[in-house]
Amino acid sequence: MRNRIARMFPTGSGRTVMLAVDHGYFMGPTRHLENARATIAPLAPHADALAVTRGILRTSVDPSVSTPILLRVSGGATVLKEDLSHEALTTTVKEALRLNVSAVALSVFVGAPHEHESLVNLAQLVEAGEDLGMPVVSITAVGKELEKRDARYLSLACRVSAEIGAHLVKTYYCDGFSKVVDGCPVPIVVAGGPKLDSEQAALELTHHAIEEGAKGIDMGRNIWQSEHPVAMLRALRAIVHEDATVREALEVFREEKTRPKVAPAEAPA
Ligand code: 5RP
Repeated sequence: MRNRIARMFPTGSGRTVMLAVDHGYFMGPTRHLENARATIAPLAPHADALAVTRGILRTSVDPSVSTPILLRVSGGATVLKEDLSHEALTTTVKEALRLNVSAVALSVFVGAPHEHESLVNLAQLVEAGEDLGMPVVSITAVGKELEKRDARYLSLACRVSAEIGAHLVKTYYCDGFSKVVDGCPVPIVVAGGPKLDSEQAALELTHHAIEEGAKGIDMGRNIWQSEHPVAMLRALRAIVHEDATVREALEVFREEKTRPKVAPAEAPA
């Protein structure tokens, strides 16, 4: 278990930069993720973990890619329904082991119509994970209700996840985020949410989250919907792993975006 978790935190910073590309399971072919293989290939060498579903792992991640995998194992609802909380476990821990992933992830929907089922899914996944040495990441999902993302709600959702046994929690950044961190006894990583107005805004969000105690990010749209996704990922790494300021990270972004593109196989690990 600890070895699998450590794989996703490979640098001395004790933090992680995960690339989230698991949106298609309920959103379909989202902008810039229409061809998942093409989006993932140049970014994978710069991420500490790739968050994917098994379908994308099978079809769109080359088996030679050594980036640790965070496998999403919940699903069952799509954006065509108002209520996204009606999820079940879609992949077993046995399959996750066969796929040699580093952790499994599922959404919990605290306060939503299917709150109970999603929390029981978490409990069952933790149970199976404990048996087989597979860490579980709980994602405090809000479905379409993005306005739910305040400190009071996220503190509750993160704490409940940890109490049920999640080894890591993925949540959103919010005002008063340090309260969310203080109330959660397991490490928290933050998602980016829908694409913000600028790269600077996403770098600022990340900087605040790290300053207030996040152990990293699991970010998607603010990376691969950028016109310069590799530069964005490298700028985020500077904040998460090197404690760069937003200004320093923007410098990294500007330098990297003018760098000639390198084929994925030649990109630095
Ligand atoms: C999709 C997810 C995403 O992994 C999570 O929201 C992070 O991606 P983004 O930064 O685009 O929000 O859980 O279901």
